[in-house]
Amino acid sequence: MSTVVARTRDELAVAREKLHGSVAVVMTMGALHAGHAELVRRARERAESVIVTIFLNPLQFGPNEDLAKYPRTLEADVALCEAEGVDLIFAPSPDVIYPHGDPGIRMSAGVLGTKLEGASRPGHFDGVLTVVAKMLHLTRPQAAFFGQKDAQQLLLIRRMARDLDFGCEIVAVPTVREPDGLALSSRNRYLSALDREAALALSRALHAGEAARTRGSSTVRRAARDVLVAEPLVLVDYLVLVDPDTLEDVPEWYQGDAVLLVAARVGTTRLIDNLPLVIG
Ligand code: PAJ
Repeated sequence: MSTVVARTRDELAVAREKLHGSVAVVMTMGALHAGHAELVRRARERAESVIVTIFLNPLQFGPNEDLAKYPRTLEADVALCEAEGVDLIFAPSPDVIYPHGDPGIRMSAGVLGTKLEGASRPGHFDGVLTVVAKMLHLTRPQAAFFGQKDAQQLLLIRRMARDLDFGCEIVAVPTVREPDGLALSSRNRYLSALDREAALALSRALHAGEAARTRGSSTVRRAARDVLVAEPLVLVDYLVLVDPDTLEDVPEWYQGDAVLLVAARVGTTRLIDNLPLVIG
């Protein structure tokens, strides 16, 4: 079956009615890469029909962020979805999603939304949760697939679905990386060759932390930080080893699941990466 592209709510509603069986959704902002393709593949294994949403959500960008220059590659995105057997693409414009302008009513990500990415990007997660909630209402899936790459976003979407009874399963997909370790991201295309080389320090730092996982939390953090500070083109925003449920720093002799998260600026590009670890 060929891929249908819906641009309006009416087109979506008509095409959604025609989908067979269980439905999974993969939400994206476009500029699709192999990480997004992996989400689609997992969704296809899980459900009979797959919807991909492509929407560059203005609500989740701050005034000084990269909304204007964010890559827009709709034609290539549609081709990738067709190659992956996606049934339906919903690619609305902002006025379709926000017909009454800036929504006065929106989701609140709460305290968890003010930490880490939320501290650097105030309001970001309220904007993410608002659009995710709207897309869940519009597409009505049984399951929605999100990448571990955006660990805090994944946690908050899980909490929203749980706390507000969305009745939709939230499925996590491990981070897809380049062979040299760089986590795939739509923002990687901003990197110069020199920046890209420097950006490898993020995944190297995470693996250095992992190698120290039996030697106490501060050793894990120090091992990762040492790799980052050795790379002069990388400006660290945060590097933390936290409890995956609370995003609070884990104590020195903690044992169990943790996640090592990093955000850094490389040239003018802000990158994030993380690695789930078992400490102890
Ligand atoms: P976007 O950055 O386009 O990412 C869409 C989905 O792809 C997210 O679930 C993200 O975690 C996942 N993803 C990105 N890079 C990945 C990688 N290297 N490996 C695995 N998964 C990866 O995240 C957003 O868009 C938006 O915030 C959105 C949820 C669509 C709301 O606007």
